[in-house]
Amino acid sequence: MDHFLYRDGALYAEDVPLSEIAASVGTPFYVYSTATLERHFKLFDDALEGIDHLVCYAMKAASNQAILKTLAALGAGMDVVSGGEYARAKAAGLTGDRIVFSGIGKTRDEVRMALTGGIRQFNVESEPEMQVISEIATELGAIAPITIRVNPDVDAKTHAKIATGKSENKFGIPISRAREVYALAASLPGLKVIGIDVHIGSQLTDLAPFEAAYLKVAELTEQLRADGHEISRLDLGGGLGIPYERSNEAPPLPADYGALIKKCVGHLGCEIEIEPGRLISGNAGLMVSEVIYVKSGEDREFLIIDGAMNDLIRPAMYDAYHDIVPVIEPAAGTLRQPYDIVGPVCESGDTFAKGRDMPPLKAGDLVAFRSAGAYGAVMSSEYNTRPLIPEVLVKGDQFAVIRARPTFDEMINRDTIPEWL
Ligand code: LLP
Repeated sequence: MDHFLYRDGALYAEDVPLSEIAASVGTPFYVYSTATLERHFKLFDDALEGIDHLVCYAMKAASNQAILKTLAALGAGMDVVSGGEYARAKAAGLTGDRIVFSGIGKTRDEVRMALTGGIRQFNVESEPEMQVISEIATELGAIAPITIRVNPDVDAKTHAKIATGKSENKFGIPISRAREVYALAASLPGLKVIGIDVHIGSQLTDLAPFEAAYLKVAELTEQLRADGHEISRLDLGGGLGIPYERSNEAPPLPADYGALIKKCVGHLGCEIEIEPGRLISGNAGLMVSEVIYVKSGEDREFLIIDGAMNDLIRPAMYDAYHDIVPVIEPAAGTLRQPYDIVGPVCESGDTFAKGRDMPPLKAGDLVAFRSAGAYGAVMSSEYNTRPLIPEVLVKGDQFAVIRARPTFDEMINRDTIPEWL
């Protein structure tokens, strides 16, 4: 459930008509609903009630400071994967003990930054990385809390580009080698092994792969404890999917996911962390765009809109489906017609949907892309020198620009000319 509903024939974000935001900030833009962000965070937090836990929002999904502050105020931790994200978490007011550092290629600078600024744990992905963390911690006179990310060789049954839990993927340490790698960790100075980490992929729409992975982690916990390691924390990753095509998708709910976690690992007495990104921000955000032209092709109608692949790359990159709805609600019984919905970028890949049934639309009409709050704004670029589009946050009847659209001068002036030119 989200807070983008039609009211009196127009689409609203909470209590604000989208047309009012469009008139104020121009199109295209991203808009997020505070109530939906909060609701989704609480769903996870409530799902783990009864066990010691921390929900660490994977900010790679949407990392605007206003979004981070909204979630931090509810007690969220953050999962970060770069120095930039670590700095964002700190800037949003999080203390190090609520920041988890994931990712397979942490640089020395990033490790130093996190050890100096404070960190809840590093999720270590390889032996060379472990050596580096040990070395830097020793140099700083610090102790680095770590988990080791294991790769459980489980098929997440999701898009190949976002599956991470099979042995062919670059992530984690093969679970079959885990005991040997934990032994190495225990022998290195500057490290404190506290637990196990696993993340098998994103947009999972079935609980079975989670179950397979978590049962393997439970078994490993017992083996490692028998080997003498203190395993007190399990980071179970993110990945729970959302309904992109609402008319025919119903992925499992956070409550079911929480029950599964309790069933698989609840008996171990570990503190549980999860790292959801998409489910928290995905359906809490829309991209709103205006129709520039309706163009008749030989055998189809093109809806040319002012949003493009640089603003929302998921359809071009993953053939992802997004519901696209008119901002003015069509009257009951309005006949729909198929459109190819495309952006202005000079690539055929700049296509959001083919043959999508929509009510008749004309230049100047607004359309909203649903489920665009995760991996939307954060993956956008300035390709074709198109400015990054603004982000807007709504709370009740208020809205605020939380990232402004840069001017052309601001974009151009980021370039510098060598003195010989
Ligand atoms: N933890 C780790 C270690 C991750 O790699 C990810 C996502 C998450 C948590 C959060 O997963 P989520 O709950 O959001 O599924 N750009 C792609 C998605 C890439 C996901 C990468 N890792 C997309 O637009 O679908």
